[in-house]
Amino acid sequence: MNVPATMRAIDPAEAGGPEVLTLVDRPVPVPRAGEVLIRVAAAGVNRPDVLQRTGGYPPPPGAPSIPGLEVAGHVAALGDGVARELLGQPVCALLAGGGYAEYVAVSAGQCLPVPDGLSLVEAAALPETLFTVWTNLFDRGFAAEGDTVLVHGGTSGIGTMAILLGKVFGLTVIVTVGSDAKATAALDLGAAHAINYRTEDFVERVGQITGGRGVAVVLDMVGGDYVPRNLKCLAEDGRHVSIAVQGGAVATVPLWDVMRRRLTLTGSTLRARDAAFKEMVADELSRSVWPHIAGGRLRPVIDRTFPIAQAADAHRRMEAGDHVGKIVLVVGDAD
Ligand SMILES: NC(=O)c1ccc[n+]([C@@H]2O[C@H](COP(=O)([O-])OP(=O)(O)OC[C@H]3O[C@@H](n4cnc5c(N)ncnc54)[C@H](OP(=O)(O)O)[C@@H]3O)[C@@H](O)[C@H]2O)c1
Repeated sequence: MNVPATMRAIDPAEAGGPEVLTLVDRPVPVPRAGEVLIRVAAAGVNRPDVLQRTGGYPPPPGAPSIPGLEVAGHVAALGDGVARELLGQPVCALLAGGGYAEYVAVSAGQCLPVPDGLSLVEAAALPETLFTVWTNLFDRGFAAEGDTVLVHGGTSGIGTMAILLGKVFGLTVIVTVGSDAKATAALDLGAAHAINYRTEDFVERVGQITGGRGVAVVLDMVGGDYVPRNLKCLAEDGRHVSIAVQGGAVATVPLWDVMRRRLTLTGSTLRARDAAFKEMVADELSRSVWPHIAGGRLRPVIDRTFPIAQAADAHRRMEAGDHVGKIVLVVGDAD
């Protein structure tokens, strides 16, 4: 493949509104040892990209300033030590940044193959939510077949992935959502119960649904005053896993309740983890989840695609909050 010296990318000089997301010229990255260069066909949009754009979530040290945490495309060049067979292959990859661009370099170990039948738009919508939900709901939260779990933001990128994984791995997934239309969408995707938190008390409803037992895991992206309410939803030995603090970074935790019911509070952020961790998760996913993707049993929920030149509109849609599932930027030939 011929790799040009420069590429089009979105790389705002300063924080701001969606209008800062304009295309500029940047040098094409050069893959280092162990890395591949991907010619990007599609790039997933995630809520952390919005936070980065507004200045609230700077890239971790060493990560590109170009936003974008996931892409799919074809391997266009190889760094030293990478197997030659990868050249030209369709892959999707988890990134620490750099996805809103025509090319991105990433560790070969953070790439997963795009199976036949999965479009590059669908493939680009997988890595960030799949790695996040897998490592938090299953690795940290120890969700296992037969468990009932509570997931907030049921129609978000993260929430829809939790519903899809729950279906494949035998979980009963209860979600909360902010409207009746979103409740219907979540149920259609396979959530067992969808609670509209604006009209119903989710603590009360979880109690009713579980016959007073509570859930094994809460996957929480709200924080703040949700935390003590989430803890009330947990069964004995339940696990509370924080992945975001959209409702507040500080919470009051009833410690006596934690002791009495032997609850665990944990959480994580994915982006700042090192390549070795992400490669390990990719390897785990290639064995545990990839057969379900290749077999057509797990397909990401795509809300809408936008050409990369309209990335500002993609962010406006995410900020409006009406989306269900993933918003994806089309960068190159995504067929
Ligand atoms: N820890 C990690 O490694 C990691 C990785 C990726 C993403 N995240 C975080 O996970 C969250 C979801 O990401 P995404 O890309 O899937 O975003 P998204 O599609 O924009 O979803 C955001 C969701 O948050 C819900 N929400 C916001 N404020 C809420 C509140 N006060 N109460 C209840 N629900 C609320 C919204 O639900 P309604 O519209 O129904 O109200 C919406 O579904 C983001 O906060 C993101 O930063 C964390």
